[in-house]
Amino acid sequence: MDKIQRRNVLKAGGALGAIGALSVAAPAHAKAPWTWAPQGSVAGTGAGADPRWVWDPEADPVVASLIDRGDVPRVNELLRTWKRNSQPLPAGLPADLRDFMESARQLPSWTDQRKLAKAVEFNTKRGLYLGVLYGLASGMMSTVIPHEARAVYYSQGGADMKDRISKTAKLGYDVGALNAYQADGEMIVTCVKTRLVHAAVRHLLPQSPYWTPVADEQIPISQRDIMVTWHSLPTTVMQKLQAWGVPIPAAESDGFLHSWQVAAHMLGVRDEYIPASWAEANSQAAQVLTPVLAPTPEGVRLSDILLSLGTPVDAGILSKPILGAFTRYMLGDQIAGWLSIPREPVWETLLNVAWRPFIAVREGLLPFPLAPAAYWLFDEFIRKAALLFLSNARPISIEIPLTNRPT
Ligand code: HEM
Repeated sequence: MDKIQRRNVLKAGGALGAIGALSVAAPAHAKAPWTWAPQGSVAGTGAGADPRWVWDPEADPVVASLIDRGDVPRVNELLRTWKRNSQPLPAGLPADLRDFMESARQLPSWTDQRKLAKAVEFNTKRGLYLGVLYGLASGMMSTVIPHEARAVYYSQGGADMKDRISKTAKLGYDVGALNAYQADGEMIVTCVKTRLVHAAVRHLLPQSPYWTPVADEQIPISQRDIMVTWHSLPTTVMQKLQAWGVPIPAAESDGFLHSWQVAAHMLGVRDEYIPASWAEANSQAAQVLTPVLAPTPEGVRLSDILLSLGTPVDAGILSKPILGAFTRYMLGDQIAGWLSIPREPVWETLLNVAWRPFIAVREGLLPFPLAPAAYWLFDEFIRKAALLFLSNARPISIEIPLTNRPT
């Protein structure tokens, strides 16, 4: 190791040491072999190879080459204008990138438009819970997924978490939009751009003097990692909704799953790793998500940044305790303890007493003819306001990073 690298590593250690002496080693069972059978996947067949060793063979070489030959700034500028699913790719993209993107933007042959329409019904009625769950269950859970926490912390976006979150929130917004995968929707574009970003991170992070000493892998964001994070999203959300007693018609629950199956495919995951049913999703999650959850110094730091997002508005007086209490309510005492989230007796009691009745009242009103549309309008207002706040009212543009976190 040369002098500069060693100095950087020591600097990184020093900065994070202040957060506490947490173990960065993954739990022993975190590296359990992959035994989930491809027969349970949307493909219904496959070799069953561990996706820990599969990354994105189509996107990775193209993006690595874009970075190495200095094309990224020009490509980012061109792609800023590419927003809608049916929009042609901007003229002037390098040929290798254009070929990849033309193929990556195709929906899988198994896309079922009727199921996607049911997902729209589901999202219309349950947008509020979905927003809360994506933000506080999935978002906070990502900080106790060690591979993800380290990758996010040491990549370029880790230095500006508000901007980073606004981009991730855009994906959560787009997948739930009424026209998500339709011609005028944006989910296909968001997924293809995210695939490019992930490919860039795979090229860049292994060059980071901060990530390499703490990572227990040489290339980040394997397809196994993507499925782990995927389970922190739809699988966790559906588990919570069921635990809260939200009555969801089977067709809508299937539709919601389908919108996320398509998302996984569009993010570059092979069909043989995408669960075909909730039962299969739960069994895969039990194997790959639950056992890896663990604290890391990077995750603790990220969670504090996330819980402090409201600080510019209220100096953290209300927002931080409320977000902390919600996180504990969603993810439980063990994870809240890992993240050093303080106890909030007032807010915790309120959530324990009032959240389920609030859901019951809201659900009880759903059969009234105007309720779903009114809920959608209200929830849409909150979603838009949240995105505006997170993006500082600037257009959200997912861009290929050129560097890692600088310090
Ligand atoms: C970037 C979503 C899995 C690490 C992004 C972005 C989105 C996204 C929307 C673009 C935001 C931006 O440019 O900042 C997702 C979804 C996933 C997933 C929906 C799974 C279903 C993962 C996993 C990891 C990861 C498993 C790491 C193990 C990152 C990193 C960035 C990124 C490091 C770039 C941050 C930056 O430097 O700007 N992801 N991601 N993601 N993602 Fe993911």
